[in-house]
Amino acid sequence: MTQPTQDFILETRNLTKAFKGFTAVDDVNLNITRGHIHALIGPNGAGKTTVFNLLTKFLQPTSGQILFNGDDITKMEPAAIARKGVIRSFQISAVFPHLTVLENVRIALQRKEGNSFHFWKSEKILNRLNQRALELLDSVGLESFANTTTVDLSYGRKRALEIATTLAVEPELMLLDEPTQGMGHEDVGLVSDLIKKVSKDRTILMVEHNLHVVSKLADRITVLQRGAILTEGNYESVSADPRVREAYMGTAADEVEQEKAEEERKEQVAEVAS
Ligand SMILES: Nc1ncnc2c1ncn2[C@@H]1O[C@H](COP(=O)(O)OP(=O)(O)OP(=O)(O)O)[C@@H](O)[C@H]1O
Ligand SMILES: [Mg+2]
Repeated sequence: MTQPTQDFILETRNLTKAFKGFTAVDDVNLNITRGHIHALIGPNGAGKTTVFNLLTKFLQPTSGQILFNGDDITKMEPAAIARKGVIRSFQISAVFPHLTVLENVRIALQRKEGNSFHFWKSEKILNRLNQRALELLDSVGLESFANTTTVDLSYGRKRALEIATTLAVEPELMLLDEPTQGMGHEDVGLVSDLIKKVSKDRTILMVEHNLHVVSKLADRITVLQRGAILTEGNYESVSADPRVREAYMGTAADEVEQEKAEEERKEQVAEVAS
């Protein structure tokens, strides 16, 4: 009898990648549930980015399988994987700094439509494109920046634009590698709220070092250590796991607790002030 399987959008089976004898990804079995925000965490060099590169086929696995919606995509080309709906943000969505915000989203939409020649000719289609681009900008809170030159956006808003250009290709599974990296407090808040918002009706797999963001967003967490899965679960169970605390989160998790306490303190101050 076969077991009733859960609704996994993506599965890896014994996924392994060795570089000249060094195993960067070691027998990884990932199960990503449809509709989840799934976080991949672990210390530097744990293999997180390599897993992403394997999933998007920028790297060929040494062994193992990748299944998307139950289909074996292990042997597929990167472009075919993207067409299937597995999109890594900040990958195809490199934005053009000297074009406007609206133009960048329009280009992403055009790219999705393919290189149909006639596409450029019809005004009706161009209007439809503009309308869709504005909707996407609205969904990431950038509508009022439509005519701003991209280079003039703040860092957090640039990331929001990159997310809009990724959404333009209607990903079913969105991969985000350290979306809040290098950001100040305010931009981290902006981008994590945005991730929450766009996670509706899709699945997100994200690598994230900021555990406060992980604790707020992730439905499920996989902890990688030296290429292998150390443990999985929700934030509560993972952060309480002594092996995880020892391997990685000990100090980082304490920092999150401190940050949370600080945030609560600020909220209380704001309440008193209002
Ligand atoms: N192309 C490559 N050739 C050889 N070794 C590589 C290659 N890419 C990655 N590695 C090694 O594989 C290991 C995992 O690297 P990876 O970049 O996947 O880690 P990571 O978890 O993303 O780390 P970080 O948190 O620093 O981004 C590292 O030891 C790295 O040096
Ligand atoms: Mg990395």
